[in-house]
Amino acid sequence: MKKMKVIFLFITIFACTSLTAQNFKYIGAAKCKMCHNKPEKGEQFNKWSAAPHANAMKSLSAEEAKDPKCLKCHSTAGHVDAGLVATLTVEEGVSCETCHGPGSAYKGMSVMKKQELALTKGLIIPDEALCKTCHNEESAHFKGFNYAEALTKIAHPNPLAK
Ligand code: HEC
Ligand code: HEC
Ligand code: HEC
Ligand code: HEC
Repeated sequence: MKKMKVIFLFITIFACTSLTAQNFKYIGAAKCKMCHNKPEKGEQFNKWSAAPHANAMKSLSAEEAKDPKCLKCHSTAGHVDAGLVATLTVEEGVSCETCHGPGSAYKGMSVMKKQELALTKGLIIPDEALCKTCHNEESAHFKGFNYAEALTKIAHPNPLAK
């Protein structure tokens, strides 16, 4: 009987932790594009596509593109826990969700419209510390990092946002 109770206790604990676990998954930039590529709202997808982050895998040779030491900073899908990758590809490079958080739970219109709610569902507001997880001396090509200046180079504001 005692053994049964212990097993039951473990099952209960397991059920509780899996319910509360924040398993937000990475869905890839194409999913964000549906809503974030209108010219009047700043066409975030096109701006990202044309900039270095989306093209970060193109800087690597075929060999380097398989090296975890390079993928760590050159690809979102290449370094996050494989179990969290839904429809994001390694080739996407440094994707939207590196800076904004895995989108599976916040991508819906009703959630996206409420920042506070979106923040509980995986949305991240990027800051300097996040950039510096990659923009640092560990990179052989490091050119120094000035946050304010770097922000202007990757800017993709929504002119209609308050
Ligand atoms: C169904 C449409 C839809 C999808 C899909 C979507 N978004 Fe949004 N997103 C919105 C809307 C609506 C807003 C509110 C601002 C606006 O009207 O553009 C918003 C706001 C945002 C903001 C600003 C948040 C804030 O409050 O500062 C970010 C960042 C963002 N989205 C990123 C993403 C990313 C990254 C993805 C893909 C993983 C994504 N969105 C997918 C509709 C969407
Ligand atoms: C996951 C790692 C990663 C994160 C996080 C990251 N970057 Fe980058 N960034 C890169 C890589 C890799 C490149 C180089 C891409 C290439 O040319 O191959 C790059 C290139 C750039 C460039 C163009 C190169 C230059 O120095 O002018 C700018 C600007 C930039 N990032 C700004 C930012 C800002 C601002 C943030 C934070 C909001 C940020 N990055 C977050 C990996 C990252
Ligand atoms: C700690 C993060 C990080 C790691 C690890 C990393 N890179 Fe980078 N890489 C960057 C960033 C950030 C840039 C953009 C340069 C800058 O602004 O500092 C970059 C730029 C580059 C560039 C473009 C050079 C240029 O002058 O624009 C090449 C090529 C490159 N990396 C190759 C590699 C290879 C190969 C590896 C693996 C051996 C690697 N990187 C590992 C972050 C990283
Ligand atoms: C390297 C990091 C990085 C990447 C990659 C990135 N963003 Fe952003 N994004 C930012 C930063 C930084 C801001 C400005 C946040 C602020 O103003 O506080 C921002 C702002 C936004 C906003 C809000 C704009 C506004 O003015 O309200 C949206 C929407 C957005 N990003 C969507 C996207 C989408 C969609 C992608 C991919 C196609 C993407 N971002 C890729 C860093 C990034």
